[in-house]
Formats: sequence, C-alpha cells, structure tokens
Amino acid sequence: MDYNLKLDEAIGHLHEEGRYRTFIEIERHKGHFPHATWKKPDGSEQPVTVWCGNDYLGMGQHASVLGAMHEAIDATGAGSGGTRNISGTTVYHKRLEAELADLHQKEDALVFTSAYIANDASLSTLPKLFPGLIIYSDALNHASMIEGVRRNGGNKRIFRHNDVAHLRELLEADDSDAPKLIAFESIYSMDGDIGPIEAICDLADEFGALTYIDEVHAVGMYGPRGAGIAEREGLMDRLDIINGTLAKAFGVMGGYIAASAKMCDAIRSYAPGFIFSTSIPPAVAAAGAASVAHLKADHDLREQHQMQARILKTRLKGLGLPIIDHGTHIVPVIVGNPVHTKKLSDMLLDQFGIYVQPINFPTVPRGTERLRFTPSPVHGPEEMDALVEAMDALWSHCELNRAELSA
Ligand SMILES: Cc1ncc(COP(=O)(O)O)c(C=O)c1O
Repeated sequence: MDYNLKLDEAIGHLHEEGRYRTFIEIERHKGHFPHATWKKPDGSEQPVTVWCGNDYLGMGQHASVLGAMHEAIDATGAGSGGTRNISGTTVYHKRLEAELADLHQKEDALVFTSAYIANDASLSTLPKLFPGLIIYSDALNHASMIEGVRRNGGNKRIFRHNDVAHLRELLEADDSDAPKLIAFESIYSMDGDIGPIEAICDLADEFGALTYIDEVHAVGMYGPRGAGIAEREGLMDRLDIINGTLAKAFGVMGGYIAASAKMCDAIRSYAPGFIFSTSIPPAVAAAGAASVAHLKADHDLREQHQMQARILKTRLKGLGLPIIDHGTHIVPVIVGNPVHTKKLSDMLLDQFGIYVQPINFPTVPRGTERLRFTPSPVHGPEEMDALVEAMDALWSHCELNRAELSA
C-alpha cells in the first residue's frame, strides 16, 4: 500500500469539503484576557481578541487559581509521577475530589485527565458493573459519551434529541428487569439548549434506570454554587452520576464524575481509562480545587457572564443575524455552509483581529455550520463593540441573509 497516498487522499477529502481544520497558534496574555497574540505561519504576529474560548469566566488568569498552582509547583514539583494506584494520588488530588463531591452534594468524586476520558471511561465501564445494562443515549450527546457507549459491547438505544416521548417508547420496549442507564447532557454546547432533566429523572424512576448527566458546559456557571443546571433546578440528588470538566469555566484542565461512594469505588476499580493513565499534575489539581472553591461563592461572576451573553445576543439579533438563543451563555451564529463559515472566520481574524473558530461537520450537522461566540466577563464594552461592528460589516460584505426585523 502507498501509505502516503492514502494520507493525501484522507486530507484532500477534508479540503474538498471545506472542513480541513487549521489550528490558530495564539498566546493568551495573563491579566489581559481575552487579548492574545496570534503567531502567524509566516512568523509575524498580530494582536487578537479571543471570542471562542471555553475559559468562560476567565478563571485561567484568576489570582486564587494561579496562586494555588504556583504554591503546588514549589511544594511538590511538576508531574504526579504515577497512576493513581502507583504513587500518583496526592493530597492535591484528594482535595480536589473532596471539593467536587461537595460541589455536587455527592458522597465522592473521581478525577480523570479530562472530561472526555471521564465520559468514555465511565460509560464504557458501567456494562461491566451491571451485566446486561442498556444505555439510552441522547442523539446529540458529545463524542466522548458516544465513544463510551459504543465500546464494550453494551446494549444501546439512541433517543431523539431531548425527546422524552421517544425515550419512554424505547424504555417501554425493553425488558422491565434489565438494568438501564439514561445518558444525556445539561447544556448542549453547539446550540446552547438544555436537556429536560426533571422529565428524564421521572422516567428513570418509573423504569428503574440510573441517570448520567454531562454538565461540562454548565459547571461553574449555573446554580447558586456553580454546580450546574441540575443544581439550579434543584435536581442534583436525582442524578446518579454527574460528569464535569475543570477545563472550561474552572479555567484549568481535567475532568471528573461525582456519584455515590460505591459507584466511584467501582468505576475507580474497573475503568482502564482511570487505572492505566498517569494522574493529573498536582499543580493542576491544586488550581482546579482553588477554582471550584472560588466559584462556589462568586455568584457575581456568574451574573456578569449571563449579562454579557444577553448583551451580545440582543445586539446580534438587532442586526438581524441568525443566532440561536436558548437563554444560555453560548451564542451560535448560523452560516450554513462550511466554506462560507471558514471564510468569515478568516476575515474576522485577518481584518479585524477577532478570533472565532468555524464549527463544521461532524461537530455540527451539515447545513448548520456556524460561528460560535463565547462572551465572558473579561470581554469589555470595547471588545463587544468591535465584534458587533465587524459582524455587521462582514454580513453585508458577504451578502448573507438577515432576519426581517419587526418594527
Ligand atoms: C459536552 C462535552 N463533554 C465533554 C467534553 C470533554 O471535556 P474535556 O475538554 O475536559 O475533555 C466536552 C469538550 O468540549 C464537551 O463539550
């Protein structure tokens, strides 16, 4: 086989479809988020404003987080030096897990290297713990959940996105004695819509199913202590396993599940993705714990975040741009064509110093390609004005459709 030819073909295919991914190399400037420097391929540099980061609250530059990280590095060095089982469990890991268990009001928590791994490792391990387990998975679940559900030969059923009637049909069609688990998200990150948590928990009770929720795009940002949408809706105790990340609103890195002590003990003992991988660096765990602890109390920051999202949505809607608005912090502007989306993103970057990554298939369905903005408390009025003006100008320049505005 001509291996290079095959690689060229695979990559060429992505170019043809306009969905070849280019990584923009940036250096963020601590103390000046969302400002960063774009290091261009030709070696030159340009200042940019980041509008697509998932450090939703700017915690990646927060003094309490950086202080905890520095302290841990000075105290204990760089890496953890081992898997959790073999010398890689430190006081910092235990502190972080205690913070997370407390955040979600669960008996215990388990930290993984990322939320991707936490989803994949947990969901693929559950059929080992509950032989014959049927997993009911929302059609728009994140790739990490799909991967976890797909592996390990468990039974799976896919219910239409947020469609509890369909979920009920699927539950009714299965053996009432079979062990069951419903896996879904609280905020779906591409449209920013919210899962019907209470209705799903009701069905789980009725059919004797466990519940697994991914709150990756909600932790830190929703609920009185930042535990997510389930906390905001008073439903945390009805969820058996809550998955979250430390990499987005908490501004650091790592993922986790929070659950009963027994559930955590079993997953800890059976999940290869937990057992056979070096634990996160102590400094990362320390920073994560500091961020979680800080956000339990900083409700103002959450309110500022929501305010920023409301302002941006109102202004873009005012220009007639086709945004999706489900009342959350995510602001998708639908372009509907991969080539145009990439072109808009390139022009925003080159001409206006605004960095927003195009979102194409397979991350979103074809025909719904979009620019996805993530306003945060670190975006000031000047950055907001610059973005809105640039979008207005480009929308006219590219002769894209605008919604009719009612008088
Ligand atoms: C819904 C959802 N779950 C899980 C993840 C993975 O999180 P992490 O970046 O911690 O691996 C993501 C990442 O974007 C996500 O969007």
